[in-house]
Amino acid sequence: MKTIDLNTASLIDTKATSSKGNQLKWLVRNNWYKADHMGYEGLCEVIVSKLLGKSNIGNFVNYEPIRILFDGREMNGCYSKNFRQKNESLVTLEHLSKQWLANSFAKELTRYPDVKDKIQHTVDFVEKVTKLENVGAYLTTMLELDVFFLNEDRHTNNIAFILNDDTGEYRFCPYFDFGLSLLADTTEDYPMGEDIYQLINKIQAKPFERDFDVQLDAAQDLYGNHLELHFTNQDIEQAFDEIGEHYSDEIIARAKELLYHQKHKYQYMFVK
Ligand SMILES: Nc1ncnc2c1ncn2[C@@H]1O[C@H](COP(=O)(O)OP(=O)(O)O)[C@@H](O)[C@H]1O
Ligand SMILES: [Mg+2]
Repeated sequence: MKTIDLNTASLIDTKATSSKGNQLKWLVRNNWYKADHMGYEGLCEVIVSKLLGKSNIGNFVNYEPIRILFDGREMNGCYSKNFRQKNESLVTLEHLSKQWLANSFAKELTRYPDVKDKIQHTVDFVEKVTKLENVGAYLTTMLELDVFFLNEDRHTNNIAFILNDDTGEYRFCPYFDFGLSLLADTTEDYPMGEDIYQLINKIQAKPFERDFDVQLDAAQDLYGNHLELHFTNQDIEQAFDEIGEHYSDEIIARAKELLYHQKHKYQYMFVK
């Protein structure tokens, strides 16, 4: 695994955009670097993006593992290529809501008690203000991969659209930020050594509903099934080859067990 010295790089402040504290972040030579903060976020980013490489999704951010030297410490982390061009801005769902509804999106959603209504309202709103089409399929695919990888962090700053500053046109943002998947937060919510099946029950999905499967069913009822996975058990094992040496055996075993469990539970997502 590569190591990068970021002592002279400038930190990017994105405090307001994370739900569980702030992962240190740097943008250096058009690559975004993120250091682990609550647990094994980097491992998750890398494993999820590797496995999404074996799916029908093309539009996702690829994360590579890296060791980061900073402030007298050496940390695990990951990096990704900057997906934004010079003349583009990232506009989060939260931004859109503040701009067009003068309201936080969470507050806006409280107007709709039913989860299907929440999702449909979101899709209609995004289509109206961005002029994008098939936002329902885009969002449903996102919820499918989040439920599969147990990503608890799909708040309204982790859903975004890319605005071309010159033309005013939007394009879909590649799916990003899988850091808080697979029980990665070992500091606060999911300590190592506890029963993973009990921990799974503690996870709260976002952004429409706390129960992953209720949220998923509602979206799929409205917009159909989209995600098709085709990785094998061998692909899971291989995905850990490079990253394995910098995380404990216990962490690797837990992440693998979760993946096998999810693969069994969501068999229908796998193409035969
Ligand atoms: N590869 C990337 N290309 C462009 N912007 C990025 C990239 N990675 C992160 N960012 C920017 O940093 C913000 C936070 O990144 P994210 O991966 O969500 O980190 P966090 O785990 O701290 O929430 C994003 O909303 C985006 O503005
Ligand atoms: Mg984020």
